[in-house]
Amino acid sequence: MQQASVHLDTHFAIAPVDPRIFSGFVEHLGRAVYEGIYDPGNPLSDRHGFRKDVIEKLRGWRMPLVRYPGGNYVSACDWKDTVGPAAQRPRRPEFAWRSIETNQFGVDEFVDWCRALGTAPMMAVNLGTGAIGDAGQLVEYCNLPGGTHWSDRRKANGHADPHAIKLWCLGNEMDGPWQAGHVPADVYAHRAAQAAILMKGIDKSIETVVCGSCGTGMSTYMAWDRTVLEYCWPYIDYISAHRYSANRDNDTPKFLAEGVAIDAMIEDYAAVIGYVGGLKKSKKKIYISFDEWNVWYKDTHGDGNWATAPHLCEEVYNLEDALVCAQYLSSFLRHADSVKIACIAQIVNVISPILTKKDALLIQSTYYPLEMFARLAQGDAIETRVDGPIINAGGMGEAPALDASATFNETDGAVSLFLVNRSLTDELLVKVALADRNISGVAGAELMHHKDVKAANTWENQNIVKPGHVTVNIDGATATVTLPAPSFAAVQLKTTERKDG
Ligand code: AHR
Repeated sequence: MQQASVHLDTHFAIAPVDPRIFSGFVEHLGRAVYEGIYDPGNPLSDRHGFRKDVIEKLRGWRMPLVRYPGGNYVSACDWKDTVGPAAQRPRRPEFAWRSIETNQFGVDEFVDWCRALGTAPMMAVNLGTGAIGDAGQLVEYCNLPGGTHWSDRRKANGHADPHAIKLWCLGNEMDGPWQAGHVPADVYAHRAAQAAILMKGIDKSIETVVCGSCGTGMSTYMAWDRTVLEYCWPYIDYISAHRYSANRDNDTPKFLAEGVAIDAMIEDYAAVIGYVGGLKKSKKKIYISFDEWNVWYKDTHGDGNWATAPHLCEEVYNLEDALVCAQYLSSFLRHADSVKIACIAQIVNVISPILTKKDALLIQSTYYPLEMFARLAQGDAIETRVDGPIINAGGMGEAPALDASATFNETDGAVSLFLVNRSLTDELLVKVALADRNISGVAGAELMHHKDVKAANTWENQNIVKPGHVTVNIDGATATVTLPAPSFAAVQLKTTERKDG
């Protein structure tokens, strides 16, 4: 059996865990909204048409934010179509996914749905085909108390209190040539800056997210980001990062080393932010909003053929996908000083851990890592020093067998560990050594593993890939756990101050 050590010292905090890294994203795409979160008339829905079974499962993620309404959808939509009496809302051809948009679910329904779930909306504005004036009017509609045209329209539409939306995305993936209204970086940067000035002029309490690159494969990767940061620096609070991981060549050793590439990408963003901040001699902090992340490559069918709520991008997830999702979340913790928001893309039906049918719901493998991280990662993210085997990572070259992240909660002494054994062949005995505290017990220890890395839950058997228990042995200031190949473990240790230290 291979062995690895994780060295921890709770003094070595990276930054407090921002719970917003456990956020989600829902777009008007396929069956994400219609038949996903919104299905009026279905016995499983409440009186607003919100699927209650979906809400219950989403609560398991404790998402502080849900980003909406897109995605590519946002770049050609008109938010004004989506408010007011439902019967009067227009049906529109939806550009991004070649579908029919009925506009029966819009801004107000989304905010009501967020309240029902217990989360906060993160709203994107159309900076593709949309004018900056429309973006400003959406802020007016949502956030002003009343006494102006659009805030009074909100009140007339049954929402007396402002929606109080704090976070606003300045468009979506505007570097992508497929995006409606795509323009070069400098043109977008001017547009985004002007929109942010207007939007913050209407409500100075809001925060804005400028579009960064939509992927490392873009020819403008980082050059786009440098330009938008240079121009928009005074007007923004976050820059977006997007990444979808894929195992198209069935190179699973490479796929399971995704955490290495995710770390590198986040470090690129931190570097360009630091570079522009340095150029500007600015003390302002701009953070990363990693507002689309997931595994996505099996169902990329994005042509709705002018249907309403077509089946699009309904990815089926297996164990290896869940192990990659765990590595995204660990990477966000390892970079807790720069990543403050992250949204799994998406949350229902479309590239989602949750699939719905009219009368049932399926939880896929990728549901569980987010549930475990959101429940257990509390307090500060802390440094993890890993000594252990290096394995062949296929097209990635070589990578550490163990991917690790950790948190320490000073209020109750809990140390949480998130460990992925990337090896397809070798069990890994992991020894966790805590330098400054004693380990007094094990609060919880869960393991995701299956002998077949391609195993997936099905409608008929929903319990094929889900967490089980794993044994953790403790001795003074060390804990040991054996990780099968490959697997993901989430372990929470109870710790106490070391008197002799
Ligand atoms: O999440 C699906 C799509 O992926 C989004 O619409 C877009 O922003 C990204 O390319």
